[in-house]
Amino acid sequence: MTNKKVIDLINLQIQREFYSAYLYLDMALYYDDLGLEGFANWFEIQAQEERDHAIGFIRYLQHIGVKPELAVIDKPTLTYSDPREPLVEALKHEQFVTKSIENILEVAQEEKDHLSVHFLRWYIMEQGEEEKNANDNITRYDLTKGSRGALLRIDSEYKQRTYSPSFPDLD
Ligand code: FEO
Repeated sequence: MTNKKVIDLINLQIQREFYSAYLYLDMALYYDDLGLEGFANWFEIQAQEERDHAIGFIRYLQHIGVKPELAVIDKPTLTYSDPREPLVEALKHEQFVTKSIENILEVAQEEKDHLSVHFLRWYIMEQGEEEKNANDNITRYDLTKGSRGALLRIDSEYKQRTYSPSFPDLD
């Protein structure tokens, strides 16, 4: 039986995942404005994945017969003075999201909500990958050591990133 505290936290997480999509779309617009189309592509696809994460939580609530509640999504307000800053902010944001999902898992465990515990494991694993990708982006950027040629090579590689759906399996 899914616990009310867990349902409330999942509704909050739906809002956070949609905010993540909005934040990354804002970063994509920043890079596009700089002419770094590959970085823009990378973050636009990341925004699509975040929407999937939100939809995954929505589907879970529907699966257990609960109507999801959609909340207001804040406007992203971060400003950046160089192309490295969004990468650092993205890592910080993923660390925040990881803590948020870990908190839902801990509450589900305390409330003996085993179905939610099982469901949330997909998101715990996904966050491991999300933090690794965010870290890798910073490492790769730092390897350019200010070389515009090296930055454009990474940009061209990031142009190749394609979207693949990122949902937990409910079957
Ligand atoms: Fe939905 Fe980037 O985690």
